[in-house]
Amino acid sequence: MSVAAIARRVSTGGLVTGMEWTPAEVREVLRLAGKMKANPARYRSALEGRSVALIFEKPSLRTRVTLEVGVASLGGHAVFLDQTGSRLGEREPLRDVAKNLERWVHAIAVRTFAQETVDELARYASIPVVNALSDRFHPCQALADFLTLEERFGSLAGLKLAYVGDGNNICHSLMLTAAQTGAALRVGAPKSYQPAEDVTNWARQVAQETGATIEIVDTPEAAVAGAQAVYTDVWASMGQEEEAAERAKFFAAFQVNPSLMEQAAPGAVFLHCLPAHRGLEVTEDVIDSPRSIVYEQAENRLHVAKAVLATLAG
Ligand code: CP
Ligand code: NVA
Repeated sequence: MSVAAIARRVSTGGLVTGMEWTPAEVREVLRLAGKMKANPARYRSALEGRSVALIFEKPSLRTRVTLEVGVASLGGHAVFLDQTGSRLGEREPLRDVAKNLERWVHAIAVRTFAQETVDELARYASIPVVNALSDRFHPCQALADFLTLEERFGSLAGLKLAYVGDGNNICHSLMLTAAQTGAALRVGAPKSYQPAEDVTNWARQVAQETGATIEIVDTPEAAVAGAQAVYTDVWASMGQEEEAAERAKFFAAFQVNPSLMEQAAPGAVFLHCLPAHRGLEVTEDVIDSPRSIVYEQAENRLHVAKAVLATLAG
């Protein structure tokens, strides 16, 4: 898909892909998240009288809790719609779901199998739609990750981040946010599991404006060489469970273990969006070591959820 075609898919007033925000808007949301973290009491009424619908077709710990607690801590109300038993759009068309919800609530967050579901809700709803994870993107996660890296390293400009593993939703959102924040991201993925070309093209285009660099290599060693931070995610995402055994063969060499971490910069930190499979994509002695900042990432999901919702629905 061309960059122009992606741009046409992007809706305004939401966080459907992560591509709809300018680098300045991303910086602003990260700044707000930092301020909310430092002084939560000041934002107690930011969503007073506002309601947010959370529609989830897949399981969640972090995303659900941070959105629900985030809305409550801003004085608003979240309504959880459990769609894990049947697909959204089965009982009634997505258009009708959107056209009903917009009469009652002020924003929708949706976790779904297909990015098209997020796109379609956003197309029909006159209220902001937030992508709470799709097969293509997980923007709330990437924003929290870059907030975590900024706290750790002081600045994101030129920060050397390596992503090792599947060119999946997490990888895509890291590419977009790296491009928007001026970071230097190197993705190491097996040839048949590299990130989508359209996402790569978009990220590289934005990178020209911000000074970011987005490189794609096909070995984990090339990805982590000199990296200040090493990130990985599961080899089989939600919805790909049946491919797990096949994928494990391709990804075995991409495990993040002490010997791979040795090849990163001295003192490099480890990141993972969680949930993690210890012994597969990462070994216990890396994820449970002092260099792991996975719980800082998880904590920052809350502050980012609050900043995103206050920005879009406040
Ligand atoms: N990282 C993340 O999105 O976690 P959950 O699937 O638990 O929401
Ligand atoms: N890539 C993973 C991320 C989970 C937060 C998945 O989609 O299952």
